[in-house]
Amino acid sequence: MSTMNYSDKIPNNVNLSEDRTLQRALEQWLPDYQAWWDDMGPEGSQNFDVYLRTAVNVDPDGWAQFGHVKMPDYRWGIFLNPGDKDRKIHFGDHMGEAAWQDIPGEHRANLRRIIVTQGDTEPASVEQQRHLGLTCPSQYDLRNLFQVNVEEGRHLWAMVYLLHKYFGKDGREEGEALLQRRSGNEDNPRILQAFNEKTPDWLAFFMFTYFTDRDGKFQLSALAESAFDPLARTTKFMLTEEAHHMFVGESGVSRVIQRTCQAMNELKTDDPKKLREAGVIDLPTIQRYLNFHYSVTIDLFGADESSNAATFYSSGLKGRFEEGKRTDDHQLRGQHYKVLNAVGGQLVEKEVPMLNALNEVLRDDYIKDSVSGVGRWNKVIDKAGIPFKLTVPHKAFHRNIGALSGVKVSPEGRVIGEAEWNAKVAEWLPTAEDRAFVASLMGRVVEPGKFANWIAPPVMGINRQPVNFEYVRFA
Ligand SMILES: [Fe+2]
Ligand SMILES: [Fe+2]
Repeated sequence: MSTMNYSDKIPNNVNLSEDRTLQRALEQWLPDYQAWWDDMGPEGSQNFDVYLRTAVNVDPDGWAQFGHVKMPDYRWGIFLNPGDKDRKIHFGDHMGEAAWQDIPGEHRANLRRIIVTQGDTEPASVEQQRHLGLTCPSQYDLRNLFQVNVEEGRHLWAMVYLLHKYFGKDGREEGEALLQRRSGNEDNPRILQAFNEKTPDWLAFFMFTYFTDRDGKFQLSALAESAFDPLARTTKFMLTEEAHHMFVGESGVSRVIQRTCQAMNELKTDDPKKLREAGVIDLPTIQRYLNFHYSVTIDLFGADESSNAATFYSSGLKGRFEEGKRTDDHQLRGQHYKVLNAVGGQLVEKEVPMLNALNEVLRDDYIKDSVSGVGRWNKVIDKAGIPFKLTVPHKAFHRNIGALSGVKVSPEGRVIGEAEWNAKVAEWLPTAEDRAFVASLMGRVVEPGKFANWIAPPVMGINRQPVNFEYVRFA
């Protein structure tokens, strides 16, 4: 390990070999990262040869290279989208000034916090998913899980690169702390709550990659607008990888639904008990999982009113989703936005300064985006001729952050009392029984081309390989 040539071993487009300080910092961090991967990466998988795509450059059609590799040998790289040396800041108080190639002192603390918070989610999800390989429904799915895992590892590299390069000693300390926190650990948990929840089964994994990786898409998109150019360029490239994670989630849930609908038609029943006996996941249980992951994820956008959000925007650190495509003044002073409050047992809209509502703006953009995939899931149910519709719950449902965290709200958006919540919550959120049932389906299917009974095969394989391709070779 000590003779490793890091500039070759770490694929990069940042001239790593010419930056001795950075190279040394990464040399010290790498073994700790590898120890973390051994400890907290996918359980029991160290010797598997996995058909993975590796980023080798940032060209739109040439960045991905596919081949069988052992995950500990995955070439974690550092890639930034190409820079534009004339790039201007396009929102906030510094609009029109040159984008920053270094960090202005007054924004250092906030940028560090933003980068650390984003960086913390990356290893957290690997930790949350580390047992799932033991119960994979197929080789195809196992490979997809591992692909997501190595790319989250690479995303951690991306954030640690920024910390090491731009934050000196503080950055190196943060880089170490990112390897020390643990998802769900009481003493040293991950920073954001959704990343301390368990991902105990594959339905939870698919919901997580659909909903929570999509939060990643929106956070990264907002950071891709940043005045701090290296952050913008790093997150732009991370977004290209994120798309696959959401594909895994959307197609995964879709295949679960497809299999369930097939069983419903074969058995001519919508009785959850009979369907469970047939070994498929009934649609109401899928709805409860959806309610859980959706509500936990929209909390990630933070408080509906936030002076931090205003500061991050005005100072140019974090833009809005697709900031560059919007046609307003990109400063937002004197503008307003509606957030929801609970007043006297009713949900009421309240106008607040737009700048303070930017968490809510991003949450609403996220909601629009996530609803569209639920519509595509409903088409699968429709096509099977089954009268059932999945819906996303009201955004006030099951909230733990912001003005809505103090009230109980039904999935339809009715403010309710404690008693009604307690009487109905088993219809709305996964129960211990639901989770135990789903867990009971989780066997391990690893013969090429074979799939667990509760999920339909995909339409296509990965990288135009057949569905029964040997995606994982077990040592
Ligand atoms: Fe990520
Ligand atoms: Fe992701």
